[in-house]
Amino acid sequence: MNTNRSWNAVARGLHWLMAVLILLQGLVGWIAQEMERSPARVDAMTFHKSLGLTLLLLLLLRLAWRWTHPVPPPPGGSSTREIRLARLTHFALYLLVGAIALSGWVAASAYVVPWKLWWLMRMPRIVAPDKATYDLASGVHDALVAVFLAILAVHVAAALWHHFVKHDRVLIAMWRGER
Ligand code: HEM
Ligand code: HEM
Repeated sequence: MNTNRSWNAVARGLHWLMAVLILLQGLVGWIAQEMERSPARVDAMTFHKSLGLTLLLLLLLRLAWRWTHPVPPPPGGSSTREIRLARLTHFALYLLVGAIALSGWVAASAYVVPWKLWWLMRMPRIVAPDKATYDLASGVHDALVAVFLAILAVHVAAALWHHFVKHDRVLIAMWRGER
């Protein structure tokens, strides 16, 4: 269980697993976009789309876990503003990961060439193939990634501020729990 003061191993594991996979995902998406048209680029995109939908699944698991387990309270002495800002950024990060994955899925569906999840399973189109839909969804996808990176920067800065300036246990509680 999450104790009163810390995150349990599942919450911590999902947080750091997703953090690493999302950064990898962004990197692969960016590199794939820069590549010349080639079979390698198609593979890179298949990897990107597959990992993206896997991340969407992990997000749902993580939210389900969060809603069924207690959440550690903010450190004592936090102001109402700090608590609100933390809640807002956390909510935005969850929402953006979901929206990025969905807009990517719309773009991949609107693209003329179908794709297979992890090279195995032909994915159903959630919209009909159409150039204008593709352009719109991929524009939204890219814009949401930019917003996500800005909020992530705030999130990481806040974690470091807690650890090195406020000297509280916020980062430790997410890193290795509390003994
Ligand atoms: C957390 C999840 C995701 C992140 C962080 C992410 C990130 C990115 C990034 C950074 C790019 C390159 C943009 C550019 O350089 O212009 C990109 C492109 C793309 N992604 Fe994703 N992506 C995610 C999920 C998905 C999913 C689930 C799909 C499809 C099932 C997808 C489909 C695409 C497509 C089709 C492109 C090329 C078109 C475009 O640039 O929008 N992505 N993604
Ligand atoms: C893609 C990367 C990341 C995403 C999407 C992400 C997302 C989140 C979310 C949504 C929460 C809220 C947990 C909840 O209340 O349900 C959280 C908590 C936390 N994250 Fe991240 N995170 C990322 C990377 C990082 C990094 C790099 C650090 C540290 C440098 C970090 C440190 C923390 C800490 C300390 C907490 C606990 C905050 C608290 O107890 O109130 N995160 N993260």
